[in-house]
Amino acid sequence: MKNKFDIIVIGSGPGGYVAAIRAAQLGKKVACIEKSESLGGTCLNIGCIPSKALLYSSDKFHYLKNFSSEHGIKTNNIEIDLSKLMKRKENIVKKLTNGISFLFKKNKITHLTGHASFIDKNTLLVKSSNEENKISADNIIIATGSSTVNIPSIKIDEEKIITSTGALSLNKIPSTLLIIGGGYIGLEMGSVWARLGSKVTVVEMLDRIVPNMDHEISFQYMKSLQQQDFDFKLSYKVINTKILKDFVEVTIESLKDQKQFSLKSEVVLVAVGRKPNIEGLNLENVGIKINKDKSIEINQNFQTTVKNVYAIGDVVPGPMLAHKAEDEGIACVEKILGQKPHINYNSIPSIIYTNPEVSSVGKTEEQLKEEKIDYKIGKFPFIANGRALTTSSTEGFVKILVDKKTDSILGAHIIGHDAGNLIAEIVTVIDFGGSSEDIARICHAHPTTSEAVREAAFSADNRAIHI
Ligand code: NAI
Repeated sequence: MKNKFDIIVIGSGPGGYVAAIRAAQLGKKVACIEKSESLGGTCLNIGCIPSKALLYSSDKFHYLKNFSSEHGIKTNNIEIDLSKLMKRKENIVKKLTNGISFLFKKNKITHLTGHASFIDKNTLLVKSSNEENKISADNIIIATGSSTVNIPSIKIDEEKIITSTGALSLNKIPSTLLIIGGGYIGLEMGSVWARLGSKVTVVEMLDRIVPNMDHEISFQYMKSLQQQDFDFKLSYKVINTKILKDFVEVTIESLKDQKQFSLKSEVVLVAVGRKPNIEGLNLENVGIKINKDKSIEINQNFQTTVKNVYAIGDVVPGPMLAHKAEDEGIACVEKILGQKPHINYNSIPSIIYTNPEVSSVGKTEEQLKEEKIDYKIGKFPFIANGRALTTSSTEGFVKILVDKKTDSILGAHIIGHDAGNLIAEIVTVIDFGGSSEDIARICHAHPTTSEAVREAAFSADNRAIHI
């Protein structure tokens, strides 16, 4: 039957499209429903990919402008052509989203455009602007992702008061950018615009930026960003915003002494978190239970409270990260088909792609203290690494947290130029149940910054060579 599938996936973000491809690889008849015209979800269209494209371009500009002379490179009148920079970003997004269409065709996946809602546990209504269709499947996977959390008193217009979506497409470099929320989005988008010339102020409710990060790293990270002229207002909450002719007036209040004052900014970015996308799916009417935080309740097999309906990615509990969603997409399909996949949630890395980059996996020092686990620390600074010196990227360090008794790696945190790539080795070792001695015994190419990871592992046993 045309409208009957083995598996239907709702949502084509990294969780959904990967789940659809895996199901097709395993021989199933698959449909993927996406309400946007473009496949790829937040990550490819208005998240990971466009932000990384802008981070790369702005980093090049900033570097050439400020540091080229130390390489003996003379650069006069370096300028930004913002529309060209944005065009490059758009082309990258187009290439990748078209790439998913190609993969869907290759894997014979039916792509339906429209908004899906449950009629019953096997049937969905798919509504687009010009038609409605009923389709059904034995199993349905919800992979609808997440969207920006708004502060109720603040009205977003995506011009003067923007979300991350607006921050990816400004057509003018704002002279001032005030960011509400010192998390992943605030700091990545703040970095883009600070490098291009905006004066950036970050208002954060808690007493540190990226509050869940290992405190030592968070402190060092804030110092680095301050050197890049970021201004931080910690322990402040926003009381209200007023859009005036040339700027937005933002009233903030100290959480320490309740004193209020106003700041003016040409543009305000609201980046205070994301919430699961469950609206309009008609979940509760078919018996799918929602948690207090509005995520979908699932068991260890990704099964919702309705047996043949599964959920993965940002719409279920856990970190809202594209790679976590991808892993869950694959594991969910394999479980539906009777295989026994396993995801190790202790070895999911997270990365902030600023300069320096910050990456982490596993426990922070604070978590280990709270859990009363005896640990030792291995640490190595990039200033003592030969390759980092040659690339003028000596800022930061590698920190490995190791079980005092067993030497197994409990967590790792890296701040530095290439932290996002360097964490992969430690993720692998953690996943294999390895120890810091394992990393210390593995040959690392010279000269590479990966040697700093090895030296941190040596240092956990007080035997670092180069410091
Ligand atoms: P976030 O949770 O990372 O940070 C939000 C920050 O806003 C927190 O520090 C919080 O204390 C603060 N905050 C909350 N309410 C506030 C208020 N009223 N006033 C001032 N500060 C307030 O959320 P963000 O940055 O919006 O990112 C959303 C999600 O997207 C994250 O879960 C992250 O995992 C994901 N993401 C991942 C990226 C990556 O992997 N590189 C990049 C961007 C987003």
